[in-house]
Amino acid sequence: MPARNTLLTAESSTRLLAAARAARPAAYAPYSGFAVGAAVLARDGRVFCGVNVENASYGATLCAERAAAASAIASGVREILAVAVVGPGGKPCPPCGICRQFLVEFGPSMEIILEDGRGGLEVHELAELLPGAFLPQHLDEAGPGETEAER
Ligand code: THU
Repeated sequence: MPARNTLLTAESSTRLLAAARAARPAAYAPYSGFAVGAAVLARDGRVFCGVNVENASYGATLCAERAAAASAIASGVREILAVAVVGPGGKPCPPCGICRQFLVEFGPSMEIILEDGRGGLEVHELAELLPGAFLPQHLDEAGPGETEAER
């Protein structure tokens, strides 16, 4: 019995991870040498890939997960079911905090699929990786924006 109920079948998860692995060689990571590939599965079944894009101004670096998600969004996707991430050495490459926040906008219950370091994969729910996330509903609950005088 699986440890948790997964949204995707084992075959779909393996396929998404393979897409992330296939994307990884295109990573632009001359500063860290840490190449990452990511693949996003949209609700409509389309898959979008991304890689990390580093910059001489290090802080301008874009992670693979955000690159893949931005590609999906640019093609009209608004709901993401899963993101697979592949870093070096077959070990888990969990999304950074910024990526977790970026992704939660498009599916708090999306699955994050990682290599497990033993030739297999591990699956996490994004909501578990980012408890208490700031969501669009928090903006709605705050009502219309305040003027400076009202603050
Ligand atoms: N990186 C990603 O692209 N995704 C992750 O999940 C972790 C980190 C990138 C950012 C940077 O280019 C390099 O890996 C080292 O931090």
